[in-house]
Amino acid sequence: MRLILILMVVVLISPIIYAFLPKQLFSSIDPAEWRPRQIEIDLKDHPKAPLIQYGYDLITKTPELIGPLAEEKMQFAGNHLTCKSCHLKAGTKPGAGSFVGVSNRFPQFRGRENKIGTLEERIQGCMERSMNGTALPEGGLEIQGMIAYMKWLSEDVPDALVDRYKGYSKVELPEIKADTVLGKKIFMANCIECHKEDGQGEKNVAGTLYAYPPLWGPDSFNHGAGMNRVITAAEFIKGNMPYEKATIDEPYLSDEEAYHVAAYINSFPRPLKSNPEADFPNKKLKPVSTPYGPWTDRFSAEQHKYGPFQPIMEYYQKEYGIKKTK
Ligand code: HEC
Ligand code: HEC
Repeated sequence: MRLILILMVVVLISPIIYAFLPKQLFSSIDPAEWRPRQIEIDLKDHPKAPLIQYGYDLITKTPELIGPLAEEKMQFAGNHLTCKSCHLKAGTKPGAGSFVGVSNRFPQFRGRENKIGTLEERIQGCMERSMNGTALPEGGLEIQGMIAYMKWLSEDVPDALVDRYKGYSKVELPEIKADTVLGKKIFMANCIECHKEDGQGEKNVAGTLYAYPPLWGPDSFNHGAGMNRVITAAEFIKGNMPYEKATIDEPYLSDEEAYHVAAYINSFPRPLKSNPEADFPNKKLKPVSTPYGPWTDRFSAEQHKYGPFQPIMEYYQKEYGIKKTK
């Protein structure tokens, strides 16, 4: 008797439950059809909508909310870049350090700190380096908002697309030192329309945020940033620049061109990160293209900056059995 009653209740309420569950649970998603969530279309009346929206705003209007254009006690970012200057389309473009799926990958081991790091700590890493600023208040509303947005983007990624949305395009590294003279030619032909000959880009009409961000100089990312490594910059450029022309599926520059132009933009002065010696407590885990010492090898500072990187990678493989790709 009791069993029948329970069954009846289940039958009665199941359509209600169904209506409230995400549709993806019932339809198998075709990876070719899938696209990342978009704030304007997909957020609607999500229970965490205000927090997720705040995270999105922080990522797209960083200088106004937590940077040089914010009220003084909210100034944490030190330059006028936004997170989306590099995490393109607010972290939804594949091949541009996308945030789609990112919250499923943390906590993870981080060589730069030689410990298991959280997503919060990873964001603080970009605040102190890419944004040339200081860490946000630990566990504060800003961190919570950014993480809520990243989690929201990461909730419904089909398994088949996880790798596509992770990191950057792969670059077949030329086995020669990157050539900044060649890099300059490639820059003049493909980049100055937006980033300008002096690499300083251009602000929007209101003069607040950048329409085209600077690639070096005082308002750029600092020398401790991932983008200041030639290999990482080449991977980013290959899949994304020139903007609106290059994609992960159809790069515009060749691997070699991306390599040389990455070296060119990183050959200029930029802000210096304080205490860079403390990075990578286990120096053997330092990426070969980290352009600042100390290192645990005898390769020159010049070679760590401009390559060729294969001999350094081979050294770590042979000496320590460590396989490095960057
Ligand atoms: C100048 C470019 C740049 C800017 C601006 C920038 N980042 Fe990053 N970010 C990177 C690069 C490059 C990496 C990957 C570094 C590496 O591979 O070591 C990264 C990695 C990350 C990751 C980890 C991604 C993953 O897949 O593991 C997160 C999260 C992140 N950034 C958040 C942010 C946030 C939030 C902001 C703004 C406060 C920001 N970033 C600003 C360049 C940038
Ligand atoms: C049509 C305009 C355009 C062209 C051409 C272009 N970019 Fe960009 N670039 C952008 C925009 C716009 C962003 C930032 C995207 C955003 O904020 O949404 C960007 C971001 C970047 C970034 C990361 C942010 C930063 O400030 O460091 C790098 C690096 C970069 N571009 C390098 C290049 C290189 C190298 C070339 C030439 C091969 C190039 N770009 C060509 C428009 C362009």
